[in-house]
Amino acid sequence: MTQLSVTNLLGIKHLNKDDIQLIFKTADHFKEVINRPIKKVPSLRDITIANLFFENSTRTKLSFELAEKRLSADIINFSAAQSSVKKGESLIDTVNNILSMKVDIIVMRHPNEGAGHFLSKHIKAKIVNAGDGAHEHPTQALLDSYSIREKLGSVKGKKIVIVGDILHSRVALSNIYALQLQGAEVKLCGPTTLMPKYITQLGVSYENSLRKALEWCDVANVLRVQHERMDIKYFPSIREYTQLFGINKELLNSLNKEIVIMHPGPINRGVELTSDVADSKQAIILNQVENGVAIRMAVIYLLAQQIKR
Ligand code: NCD
Repeated sequence: MTQLSVTNLLGIKHLNKDDIQLIFKTADHFKEVINRPIKKVPSLRDITIANLFFENSTRTKLSFELAEKRLSADIINFSAAQSSVKKGESLIDTVNNILSMKVDIIVMRHPNEGAGHFLSKHIKAKIVNAGDGAHEHPTQALLDSYSIREKLGSVKGKKIVIVGDILHSRVALSNIYALQLQGAEVKLCGPTTLMPKYITQLGVSYENSLRKALEWCDVANVLRVQHERMDIKYFPSIREYTQLFGINKELLNSLNKEIVIMHPGPINRGVELTSDVADSKQAIILNQVENGVAIRMAVIYLLAQQIKR
């Protein structure tokens, strides 16, 4: 297979196993490129990409921008905070104005679930979802699986626990889809109030005890408590959350094996992970960030191959 089965990357839900293999194989190539003295290829010299960020972002925005630059695309950046969205402009109007500037691919982060889907029905440019509300964050899940594959040789047959605020996390849902597609076993752990009701329908299991979950797994992907998405209190206090679901070195050392620790960032140090865990050799958090650039280069490159030029 040399082509993706999809024309946009809206979510992992729409991908198949072969798409993931193709993205990983392409990312392997780009990972080698970004480790060369000249970290750039001319592949997308004729492509223009707009990065539309309607919600705050550090890593994802920088990672996409860098990936696009490494592919030699022309890029324009848009942040909602400094735009006419604040003057009441609709999403379609904003995007159509940007498209009149002859944009081929749109990378979009938006606070509303399904924003990318909606846009894909109305515009011709290709869309890459960089996070839509609490729904999907496909490139994060791809880089997470790619990092597990790099560290442990494969994703198939591995046991992964996702710890924390599943309810508000787009990273969790995309990871569940991606890991299951590749034959991994997925368990969730965290306060029951932060588990969505539909979760058992996705074929994952739940474990309330963090120790038991860690004893079971090969990899723990630890998520941030997303306070900005909470309008009510889901647990009594941060202190209690940390006591029950925070990972510290003592807990890790008391397990009878060495597990891999992942985190999509930004980390709340001292809440979901203590600093000695986040900075330990067991943690592959910075490898995830490095792999993010190669994965995003691969996704954009493969979508651009479908554009008639
Ligand atoms: C995540 C996000 O924005 O969904 N971060 C990221 O993209 N690296 C997770 C988070 O904000 O906690």
